[in-house]
Amino acid sequence: MVRLMPRTLLLPLALVLPVLGAAQLSPNRLRCEYLENPIGLDVAAPRFNWIVESSAQGERQSAYQIVVSSTAAGAAHGQGDLWDSGKIASGQTTQVVYAGKQLQSGQVAYWTVTTWNRSGESSKRSSVAHWQAGIMRPEDWRAQWIGLPVMPNKTARPATYVWKSFDIAKPIKRAYVYASAKGLYRMTLDGKRVGNDIFTPGWTDYRKRIQYETYDITGRLKRGPNLVGMALGDGWYCGHVGNTSGNDYGDRAMGLVQMEIEYLDGSHDTIVSDGTWNAARGAIEANDLLQGESYDARKEVKMDGPMAGEWLHPDAVALDAVPLVAQHDPTVQQVAEIKPKKISQPKPGVYVYDLAQNMVGWARLKVEGKSGDKVQLRFAEMLNPDGTIYTTNLRGAKATDTYTLAGGKPETYEPTFTFHGFRYVEVTGYPGTPGMDAITGVVLSSNNPVTGEFACSNELVNKLQHNIFWGQRGNYLSVPTDCPQRDERLGWMGDAQIFARTACFNNDVAAFLTKWTQDVVDAQSSEGGFSDVSPRMGDDSDGAPAWGDAGVIVPWTVYQCYGDTRLLDERYPAMRKWIEYIDSVNPDHIWVKRSNNNFGDWLNVQDDTPRPVLATAYFAHSTDLLARSARVLGKTEDAEKYEALRDAIRAAFIQHFVDAEGKIQGDSQTCYVIALAFDLLPKDRRANVADRLAKHIAERKDHLSTGFVGVGYLNPTLTAFGKSDLAYKLLTNDTYPSWGYSIRQGATTIWERWDGWTDTKGFQDPGMNSFNHYSLGSVGEWMYKSVAGIDLDPAKPGYEHIIIHPVPGGGLTWARASLDSIHGRISSSWRVSGGEFGLDVAVPANTTATVYLPDGSVREVESGKFHFVSPIGR
Ligand code: BGC
Repeated sequence: MVRLMPRTLLLPLALVLPVLGAAQLSPNRLRCEYLENPIGLDVAAPRFNWIVESSAQGERQSAYQIVVSSTAAGAAHGQGDLWDSGKIASGQTTQVVYAGKQLQSGQVAYWTVTTWNRSGESSKRSSVAHWQAGIMRPEDWRAQWIGLPVMPNKTARPATYVWKSFDIAKPIKRAYVYASAKGLYRMTLDGKRVGNDIFTPGWTDYRKRIQYETYDITGRLKRGPNLVGMALGDGWYCGHVGNTSGNDYGDRAMGLVQMEIEYLDGSHDTIVSDGTWNAARGAIEANDLLQGESYDARKEVKMDGPMAGEWLHPDAVALDAVPLVAQHDPTVQQVAEIKPKKISQPKPGVYVYDLAQNMVGWARLKVEGKSGDKVQLRFAEMLNPDGTIYTTNLRGAKATDTYTLAGGKPETYEPTFTFHGFRYVEVTGYPGTPGMDAITGVVLSSNNPVTGEFACSNELVNKLQHNIFWGQRGNYLSVPTDCPQRDERLGWMGDAQIFARTACFNNDVAAFLTKWTQDVVDAQSSEGGFSDVSPRMGDDSDGAPAWGDAGVIVPWTVYQCYGDTRLLDERYPAMRKWIEYIDSVNPDHIWVKRSNNNFGDWLNVQDDTPRPVLATAYFAHSTDLLARSARVLGKTEDAEKYEALRDAIRAAFIQHFVDAEGKIQGDSQTCYVIALAFDLLPKDRRANVADRLAKHIAERKDHLSTGFVGVGYLNPTLTAFGKSDLAYKLLTNDTYPSWGYSIRQGATTIWERWDGWTDTKGFQDPGMNSFNHYSLGSVGEWMYKSVAGIDLDPAKPGYEHIIIHPVPGGGLTWARASLDSIHGRISSSWRVSGGEFGLDVAVPANTTATVYLPDGSVREVESGKFHFVSPIGR
């Protein structure tokens, strides 16, 4: 034990635990564009990332060498025929850009890394990782879009089935397939699914770009006849989205398949979708993301060759100018299953399953009965007082699945082209009495790797973390959505920006948000206006303050959390255009023109913030982030220009809205919070303003009144101004309005409104009352940063330098969190006992950390595991 300061003890574990072997630094977890061994990447110069691990303290990488080879064996032997970086003296382990030969479409590149530690010893070469190029040149596309003619009856549209049989006559070296749809597709080979992705090719503005996926099917093809098939659903393309009447991007689903088969003898076949395929309608008689799916098992299409029937061949349409781009973000997949906890029967023949968790996905049905028996499933988040399901808040979303039995044997059904947001499943028409195992909840989400863990001694707070996590899980579905259940489910920008930082703790969302920020750019108007929802839908007006600003805030957040300067660089022109769009029509720097839908501090608790105050604060904030981005990117002229603009907006804000006593127009919690959080006030007035905020909270008997926007900055601001006691009070309250209140009412996800249901009023306005909306869960960021104490250093983004700054309080006796950062696992775990604060910290190799202890002392550490002891207060 080393006594470093009279009142603080520092115990570096590495000094007392035996360090075995040499201080090797091994490169692990190799990723390319944030993905492990991606297949179908169309980035010409992808970026590499690895983590270095060491049993010793303070290890650093002094150099690296990347070798990229056209064969796995070549890479394993260090032969870089595609690229050999040579030994580069650098500590960089993230965002290292490939600078080798251009890959051809479909080509696989294998890579390894060797690293050198701080004393110059080299590691073993890493294990071999790879990536496969997607289609690198548009002219390599040979397939055509295929589908059946438009169905006139838009309310119940069947899926389309297309298929083709082909022969393989020679031994195969490798085979892969590119697949896409205008709509959704589910691909099969010989009747078995290809991949486990759901709702591919994901949601984009299909008028601007359409994604495709790539699958390795080498092991799936056999000598002789093979059959490739696709079911095509409407999805976001031509089904209902939001509360539009459907057909937002087109009027029928079409599919695209291009299969590349390389034979051992060096020859090659390409099989593409075209007018020679077969097509039919079949078992999916109706499909819609919002309305649900109807499946008649008697009508399953065998897809076993040419067919007799109404449609022999699909229409085939040549590719148009809309670019096809490789899907780089994690696809939607099944991420969990939930068994019901309870069945009730509120009416004869009506069974209600309680999964005890508000979730997103669908129900798997197990049933046995006669041919033609029809089971209906309906979905809801809440129950009526009589135990029936409460569906009023779903508005126009019917969320109903119907299964017609083939009969005579046990049958299992899961839908293909719909999803629901629900905790309860209502089953009617079931032949006999359904048992517990008749229903299973199948949880779907964009499969972003889980990176964060948070827990503490207060069960209410743990439940809050659970609810935030599940809110993210359900609403990060192809794009970040507002809610999963009603006829909305849109990429609402305000929700996304306020929650982004929390999201980056819970999951690795770098690839997900990289893709979505492209949707955001695609949604930008020619004048520069970002939108309210991305992909842009419905009401065509530009984005509101704090909503449109997501176009600046989210790329900046990804840069901060993952050190992604390329993303910042790519999004920068759009970010600048947005600021110019506002600035050009608001010459006095108060944002009143082009404030569009101007939602304000949405869903606050009778504590509205004047629109111009909130808007101008965001104008200053986004301009500040733009200026910072310009600095990062070395655009000095821009940086100076936007720093000056930010200062001018700040001056205008003070002049218009802040009086000499620090009172801000509107006198709401949010106006004080954002003025402090966005650094809009002169130094000498900040403490005063923070006191006003505290007083405001006290006047509400220590309760918050912030809406979607203010809530994200509330606790961080209280902590920044030395008022963490109050922040803890808000965190642990269980009376209205608070997070705890919803938990006391049984919430298992974050509610859209503080008063979604109250014991005095019951349900809020069903017109807008979701029980799974993540926005108010943006307090998660503060829980990781300040309760457990893991934060980043904005000057060294991506956790290259880590800030460990736990702020104990709220009666908590312990708290811990970990984060699998782009540099490796960071953890912070503290416990208070006997008046002393004990802290365990893990800092990944090749990073450093500054540790702040409750007694005010500060420690700089290199990587390793550390134990600190400090008095609980100053
Ligand atoms: C959505 C929100 C969104 C809001 C805009 C709502 O209908 O569900 O989450 O941000 O509209 O105010």
